Amino acid sequence: MSIDDNHMASGSPCNGAQAALAIGILLVARAAVAAAPFAEMVQWAALAQKRHPAARVSFGFVEQGEPSVRAALMELCAEGVGEVLIVPLLLPFEPSMRNSLGRMIARWRVDYSGPWPTIRLGTGWAPETGAPSGLLDQLVAAAAEAEPLSVKAARPEGSLVPAQHHRVLLCAGGPCTQAGALLLWQHLRARQDEWTLRQAGSGMMSCRTTCLGPCALAPVMQVWPDGTIYGGLDEAGVDAVLRGHILNSQPVDALRYVPTGHKQRLRSDEGPGR
Ligand code: FES
Repeated sequence: MSIDDNHMASGSPCNGAQAALAIGILLVARAAVAAAPFAEMVQWAALAQKRHPAARVSFGFVEQGEPSVRAALMELCAEGVGEVLIVPLLLPFEPSMRNSLGRMIARWRVDYSGPWPTIRLGTGWAPETGAPSGLLDQLVAAAAEAEPLSVKAARPEGSLVPAQHHRVLLCAGGPCTQAGALLLWQHLRARQDEWTLRQAGSGMMSCRTTCLGPCALAPVMQVWPDGTIYGGLDEAGVDAVLRGHILNSQPVDALRYVPTGHKQRLRSDEGPGR
């Protein structure tokens, strides 16, 4: 039985009028920062749509690129699909990505007031399953048939020294990634473009780092030159830091953790009356 037969038989659309949209297929890629990779994703989606005509096929990016996974998922929800199959097109598909997506989807659900579909997250391509061997053979054959690259010796072009005053470091160590840092990174980079933060005010740059230290406060972000540590962030928290600290030079007290010489937990973990 095909995905369409199987799920169309058991899917639970939100209402009868939307029965044709019982299943959504959401292809998840890492990033597309230019028109060409975006166009390629459009083609992947068209191919998936052709193979699963009864489903509504969409795609989203976990890092840079629009639409984000969140935007694509919310659109499927708004269209009334009864079930969403999240299909990772990522190699490798790290277990931490699965955890990140799970946590972030749980947060998005809190903010979504409409009927919520069943969501299944695929396992991606894993070498031990042997599943990608045909694909792998095709990729190797395509490389073997490709024209040799024309590689000319050239001196490096040199680099501009950045003028931006602020450096925003988003931790992508293990605990922070498990707490959703990769998707926060996607959000941060989208905001950086949308709010022109490289130029606005004294300007900022951002990068992902390995562990910044206070893992129990994950996900963690640090703003330099003052080194302020923010913890327990979600998208709204990132926005608050960008507005307050970056655009108005006002650190956000509600989200920052100052050195005390003692171990600290997230304020939200300490319960009422802390
Ligand atoms: S992993 Fe992020 S602070 Fe340690």
